[in-house]
Amino acid sequence: MNDLQSLRSDSDDESTNTSANPGFDSILQARLSRRRLLGGSMGAAALAMLGGASPALAAASAQGAAAPGRKLPKLAFNPVAKSLADAVSVPEGYRYTVLYRLGDPIDGSVGEYLNDGTDPAESFALRAGDHHDGMHYFGLGPNGKHHKNESDRGLLCLNHEAITPAYLHPNGATVVGDVRTVAEEVLREFYVHGVSVVEIARAGGEWRYQRDSHFNRRVHTLTEMELSGPAGKTPYMVTKYSPDGSRTRGTVNNCASGSTPWGTYLTCEENWAGYFRRIEATDNPNRSARELTAFTRYGVRGTGRELWATVTPDTADDLYGRWNAMKLGSSTDGSDDYRNGPNTYGWVVEIDPFSPDATPKKRTALGRFAHEGAWLGPVRVGHPLVWYMGCDSRNEYIYKYVSNAVWHPDDANGGMAAGDKYLDDGKLYVARFDADGTGQWVELGFGVGNVSPANAAYGFADQADVLVHARLAADAAGATKMDRPEWGAVNPRNGEVYMSLTNTNAASRPLSRLDAANPRFYNDRKTTGQDQRGNPNGHIIRFAEAGDDVAATSFKWDVFLFGARATADAANVNISGLTDANDFSSPDGLWFSHATGVLWIETDDGAYTDVTNCMLLAAVPGEVGDGAARTIVSSDGTSTRAVDTYVGKAPGEENLRRFLVGPKECEITGVAETPDGKALFVNIQHPGEDTRPDFATGSFGSHWPDGGLSRPRSSTIVITRVDGGRIGV
Ligand code: FEO
Ligand code: CA
Ligand code: CA
Repeated sequence: MNDLQSLRSDSDDESTNTSANPGFDSILQARLSRRRLLGGSMGAAALAMLGGASPALAAASAQGAAAPGRKLPKLAFNPVAKSLADAVSVPEGYRYTVLYRLGDPIDGSVGEYLNDGTDPAESFALRAGDHHDGMHYFGLGPNGKHHKNESDRGLLCLNHEAITPAYLHPNGATVVGDVRTVAEEVLREFYVHGVSVVEIARAGGEWRYQRDSHFNRRVHTLTEMELSGPAGKTPYMVTKYSPDGSRTRGTVNNCASGSTPWGTYLTCEENWAGYFRRIEATDNPNRSARELTAFTRYGVRGTGRELWATVTPDTADDLYGRWNAMKLGSSTDGSDDYRNGPNTYGWVVEIDPFSPDATPKKRTALGRFAHEGAWLGPVRVGHPLVWYMGCDSRNEYIYKYVSNAVWHPDDANGGMAAGDKYLDDGKLYVARFDADGTGQWVELGFGVGNVSPANAAYGFADQADVLVHARLAADAAGATKMDRPEWGAVNPRNGEVYMSLTNTNAASRPLSRLDAANPRFYNDRKTTGQDQRGNPNGHIIRFAEAGDDVAATSFKWDVFLFGARATADAANVNISGLTDANDFSSPDGLWFSHATGVLWIETDDGAYTDVTNCMLLAAVPGEVGDGAARTIVSSDGTSTRAVDTYVGKAPGEENLRRFLVGPKECEITGVAETPDGKALFVNIQHPGEDTRPDFATGSFGSHWPDGGLSRPRSSTIVITRVDGGRIGV
């Protein structure tokens, strides 16, 4: 992220984790105990799964999606070449169309987008937002209800994670002496964040969004939300807006997403902390030691990345000032200011796309952190529901939520009430990856282990405290620090979970803190000569729950794939054997097609951008344990270190191919598919975000998708096969 993407230099990804949690400093000792949880080669478990009686296959059917056959899919397209062009490339035999762009109107009362910075702020309440991100397709039946297998008409839910202010206003954001002086611009930014629900349909072979659909909806930073679950209506949530702590306004920095078996959308608040203004020199003396510990751990400090709280005069309902998280009032409980405002962000938020008037709910049982997304595990009648989640900052953790209620198919059309049942009452766990290839889910429950009043770094008061401060609870539980957990995906074939660890730098993962699950340190030197040390290319880890039980507290893991340049050292950097047809850096979005079984991998890369723009790859994974134990030798120039890990079978070009390359300075994120597997929706986020625009000449870093001298626009595209077949296979 640079100064064009946000007004203030952004430290969202920086580590705030000073806990002593592993990274192991005793790798050599750990080498001595290398027994694996489920046996050496996965043989028995794999055979059981392939035998057709797998609960996971049953689960895929229960979700209504076609369970992929027992046979692994075969990729059937020619790989796309790496590219620096300001264009989207797809394989021969495929085409794409632009479906839904920044500013596109979702109501007949709103005019076409002018895209010159003058579109009225309030009009964005009924226009597409910016920075399209996580996305889900919900089939829409003729009765207006969720029809899981409907492939010609659906509701597309997508996040608008952040903004590129340069392209939203006539000449970028107006800032005078660190103050936003044009309230209209800030109001526009409030609306441009959030979520879109938009009806789409296929007619005559073409996909279009339906401009007048009554399902169309924007959720943004002004939308009222309910704070639900154990931390709702607690003293942590008290604000002037909601003195009983039951409500808050809006959602922000909605990154990836998730879904539920009852047809609702989960949108996840990632880098929310940076939006709040809290000047430490002024505010710290007014705060308790506990509050200061929490602010430090969550990075709540500074001017606010878009300076939203600086607008004066404020409105009667504190539209701008509510982004000021400093203690300003004299109350003891925070009911006269927004000192607790940051506690109302950092959650998984449920939205019912089929009920446009339903109030979204922040589901606090799933914990508060930099939520990337929430990925539903296998759905099995009579078993709990689980969601896997990542906290995307350097040295943060992977989490799992397990509902206390067991799934009953009668709840399949239960709407927000089903959410109350499954998402407000459950257990939160955090992952510890051990050096022997196994791992543990450690419960974050008040009074469980170190998550107690006696915990030295932060004494917990109750379960609401544990959830509001889930990062601190995970520190206390001894979770494993990971190289920035981004998206997850659950393989419908066997229930195994994939999580991308997008990248990290040498400061956050020095040689001395490598561990089995984060095992590489190298210098990825750009063709420009720039050194990039640490793990700048990232990797994808995967795990199999013990006994194929979604509620298991232990698992077996390996590294599915390491990002690298094809030209990198094959022994210790390009460990997955990537070639010109499939090399990549910085995996982020992950998504399994339920129609084909293909794993789609998206990149959000800054390391390999000397050679190529960000991309989408198709993979056909095997399973945990299909590779081998491996020792990786890394050097930082002064020391050398050998780390033992487990690496999945190298995919080869047969099972990993580049499918798409995006335009300049974009990130590829958000992926969804129709249940028939014949339309793939992909988001092109923030094209042209890096180059300083020249408004006088119309020179921007990208002119995609409209071309000419137009300003670039984040957009959803839809990819189809020219012959109408399924995508990728
Ligand atoms: Fe919003 Fe972690 O990407
Ligand atoms: Ca992401
Ligand atoms: Ca990312």
